[in-house]
Amino acid sequence: MKTVVSGIRSTGNLHLGNYFGAVKNFVQMQNDNNCFFFIADWHSLTTHPTPEDLHINVKRVLAEYLACGIDPEKATVYVQSDVPEIPELYLLMNMNAYLGELERTTSFKDKARKQPENVNAGLLTYPVLMAADILIHKAHQVPVGKDQEQNLEMARKFARRFNNIYGEETFPIPQPYSYTGEFIKVPGLDGSGKMGKSEGNAICLVDDPKDIRKKVMKAVSDSGPTEMNQEKPEPIQNLFTLMDIVSTKDTYDFFNDKYNNCEIRYGDMKKQLAEDIINFTSPIRERILDIMQDDAYLHKVTKMGAEKARESAAKTVEEVRRLIGFRKF
Ligand code: ADP
Ligand code: TRP
Repeated sequence: MKTVVSGIRSTGNLHLGNYFGAVKNFVQMQNDNNCFFFIADWHSLTTHPTPEDLHINVKRVLAEYLACGIDPEKATVYVQSDVPEIPELYLLMNMNAYLGELERTTSFKDKARKQPENVNAGLLTYPVLMAADILIHKAHQVPVGKDQEQNLEMARKFARRFNNIYGEETFPIPQPYSYTGEFIKVPGLDGSGKMGKSEGNAICLVDDPKDIRKKVMKAVSDSGPTEMNQEKPEPIQNLFTLMDIVSTKDTYDFFNDKYNNCEIRYGDMKKQLAEDIINFTSPIRERILDIMQDDAYLHKVTKMGAEKARESAAKTVEEVRRLIGFRKF
């Protein structure tokens, strides 16, 4: 049986990118693996949430996980900050993580560019904390979307480095996992790049149908193809990619043929895309709203998850301490 670990930062509502890039894999993997899925609330601190926002953000992601079908009886579902063994491993890992390699990661450079007034040390060592999250349970597989490729590569590097210094077999080298076999990138509706919370182009699982229709109808398109079988420019390709993800093959083929014959009407395509997204998100949305009301259930889930996660984490930390040379008097 494989051990699987993944998490999502609690920085806002989950969107279609998070679902298809990460959570869908979580739901599939929980049936025949030893899974640990957590809410990365310590990671969310790099952007300085207010004390009022912090808890509600965690609650939202937790309710969203459960509404998507993550089953706390099958997987260990927990809040990162409930597991104090993680920062201990993070501290130990930091001693073999080097300034140069941390400064070179694209996510650090991106963040430093986006929030020049807040280039904190937590941002720099973000990949070390992520590696601690993964290695604390000796994960074999990590389901994440494309943008996490480099962070995962760092986790692999830190695992190898630790094994080289202290013992070959301590950590398995964690592999990326995706049900399609490759990292997924769900595009945004603003014509370029990926769908993301901070990009302001996201369709969230909890969005109501009215908002979804509005967002999709506003999606960037163009004046239409002028030649048969013309290559699709990025904004149009993005619409098709989304349709490929949420609609049936027949629907996708219908609009693809229209495009290739220069008969496409983007208004019709967007209407169909919006309805298909709504069909997909509506049942999830209803469950999110229900679960958000059920504090007793959320308490039970997180308590059970914290106990199971700590049991697994404590074993690793004990082994790591011993390997490094800490001894009891
Ligand atoms: P965001 O970009 O909205 O801040 P996160 O960085 O918190 O989202 O990502 C949480 C998880 O969702 C990660 O595994 C990430 O790879 C995945 N993810 C986020 N956006 C996308 C996307 N547009 N396509 C595919 N996966 C995504
Ligand atoms: N860095 C991930 C993101 O932004 C979240 C994360 C933190 C994570 N720790 C992890 C993902 C461990 C997988 C495994 O989405």
